[in-house]
Amino acid sequence: MPTITVIGSVNLDIVAKAARLPAPGETITDAELHHFPGGKGANQALAAQRLGADVSLIARVGEDGSADEALTLLREGGVDLANCIALPAAATGTALIAVAPSGENQIVVAPGANRLLHPDDFEPPATDALICQLEVPVDTVAHAAQTFGGFFCVNLAPAKRIDVAVLQRADLVVVNEIESAWYGNTLKACTGLIATTRGSGTATLEQDGEVIAEAAPPTVTAVDTTGAGDTFTAALTVALVEGQEPAEALRFACAAGAAATTKMGAQSSLPGRDEVENYA
Ligand code: RIB
Repeated sequence: MPTITVIGSVNLDIVAKAARLPAPGETITDAELHHFPGGKGANQALAAQRLGADVSLIARVGEDGSADEALTLLREGGVDLANCIALPAAATGTALIAVAPSGENQIVVAPGANRLLHPDDFEPPATDALICQLEVPVDTVAHAAQTFGGFFCVNLAPAKRIDVAVLQRADLVVVNEIESAWYGNTLKACTGLIATTRGSGTATLEQDGEVIAEAAPPTVTAVDTTGAGDTFTAALTVALVEGQEPAEALRFACAAGAAATTKMGAQSSLPGRDEVENYA
């Protein structure tokens, strides 16, 4: 069982399931309202735990009611939250999400306490792997990358300017096709693997500018794509750290990501190992 630390965000997702996504300036009514635990860091932590890893999460939330709601599934799932600290003067991160019947979404995040996770708030973790994303300060991610000695994965989401040393240090960089276009030639600085997801299209794994593996996600009926990229990131890290070959690991990650789209919500839809192996 690999040990994994995730340094990242915790959000409460406030979700409106609507007949379609609004255009700028448009109001859509008659949506269904849901609250789900979310945040890219928290989603990746729980996804890795459900896939069999032993996971701890380093994060910041507010001392408010949203924190309890946001942390419920992580607690129930057994993720170590000893370093998930509630800060009295801060609000828990909140994501406002619109979801269309096709499963496509639009997300706006108010990071709140996630902004207050500072580089000197934690020691380098003693785990097999570390996963970071960009919903916490980029300086924090850069510090974690430079001080951690094991397998380091960075999911460059949401796209932000980041120290090139992070890309040079990463064993695995994960982007979707929008992020890949945003970073463009910057990704040439990567020395490890680059995984690119393309929704229901073929995902690739590249090294040194060469595609070394490709995998098409299994066909599923998507109801909500929120958290699919987080599930892919966690699953690929778990599989590579377990020693799976790149092509096998990519198939496993695609199956996990696809499975996560078949239910509403981010953490509420994260698949277990058996479910993923049935799809893969
Ligand atoms: O990647 C999905 C996540 O992005 C959601 O859970 C939301 O909280 C935003 O952070």
